[in-house]
Amino acid sequence: MNLPTTQVYPVIWHEGRVLLIDQNRLPLEYALVEISLVKDMARAIKTMIVRGAPAIGVAAAYGMYLGAREIETDNRDEFLAQLEDVAQMLRQTRPTAVNLFWAISRMLKTAYETLGSVEQIQASLLTTAQAIQVEDLQTCQAIGDRGLEVLPSTPHKLCILTHCNTGALATAGYGTALGVVRSAWRDGRLARVYADETRPRLQGARLTSWECVQEGIPVTVITDSMAAHCMKQGLIDAVIVGADRIAANGDTANKIGTYSLAIVAKAHDVPFFVAAPLSTIDFELPSGSLIPIEERHPSEIYQIGDTVTCPPGVEFYNPAFDVTPAEFITGIITERGVVAPSQLQQLQLKQPA
Ligand code: MRU
Repeated sequence: MNLPTTQVYPVIWHEGRVLLIDQNRLPLEYALVEISLVKDMARAIKTMIVRGAPAIGVAAAYGMYLGAREIETDNRDEFLAQLEDVAQMLRQTRPTAVNLFWAISRMLKTAYETLGSVEQIQASLLTTAQAIQVEDLQTCQAIGDRGLEVLPSTPHKLCILTHCNTGALATAGYGTALGVVRSAWRDGRLARVYADETRPRLQGARLTSWECVQEGIPVTVITDSMAAHCMKQGLIDAVIVGADRIAANGDTANKIGTYSLAIVAKAHDVPFFVAAPLSTIDFELPSGSLIPIEERHPSEIYQIGDTVTCPPGVEFYNPAFDVTPAEFITGIITERGVVAPSQLQQLQLKQPA
């Protein structure tokens, strides 16, 4: 298997514990946080030490193993009952990214299907968590390569605009939308990435630009409100974003600001792609209006570092995600190919049983 070349792995299994890159401290500081207990993994997901839909899924999978390891019983039924509590603790961390729920379900399935002792179930859970991680690396590399098939053909090298962070940090180690960017760079088709800074948590300014600098990819950070102006000036050939959950009709939840970016792209005739693994598609939800949207603490809006930026008496609304209607999406890039949002069902048929 050809593993991606990037050296950035946000979740690392090392000598019986998990190491997470603390994404709240980047780019000022590269620090690893050690996690040995499931409650600490739940906190790390909630506080966004680890973030990005596929990375949250990988972290939750290891969280399930850590929780399983903490259960002190040899009785299989008691063990499985307590594992359900572990799953519930992890489910309550962040509501929007479906990869979290997907990974937890897969881990539970492993537990129920493993015959034998509690010790054997625990061992299978670790193997499954590691498999989820390796599969995500392979999946993202496939997404990167599939994305190349639909990038516009232009006489010049491409400028791609992206939102939030969808790179190695947000996955097991390669990226979805930024994976396409990475593949385009590798193939000599990319001139530059435009990265929305992505208010309020600045994943674009802090994380996407950091990853691009690590890889030597030319990157220009703009504030979210500059996207329309850049498109009008002809600076952008395509927009590629990631997803936290895609409903069966193609409506896509992603970082707040994605919806307005899609509208602006349509107004300027710029293709707008969503890149995501099949594990991000929630075929049980018929439309995006049913996707739960996380609301985060207002301090993300009224505070920059320790500095308060608004006067007292102001109210805030801080949804972390929005839903882009399918009609604004040119294509959805997955590891199995690129489809129009209206054709997503074809991918469900292709999923292994
Ligand atoms: O709140 P975050 O930083 O977890 O949000 C991340 C995003 O919205 C990403 O675009 C999405 O998870 C796709 S990551 C490959």
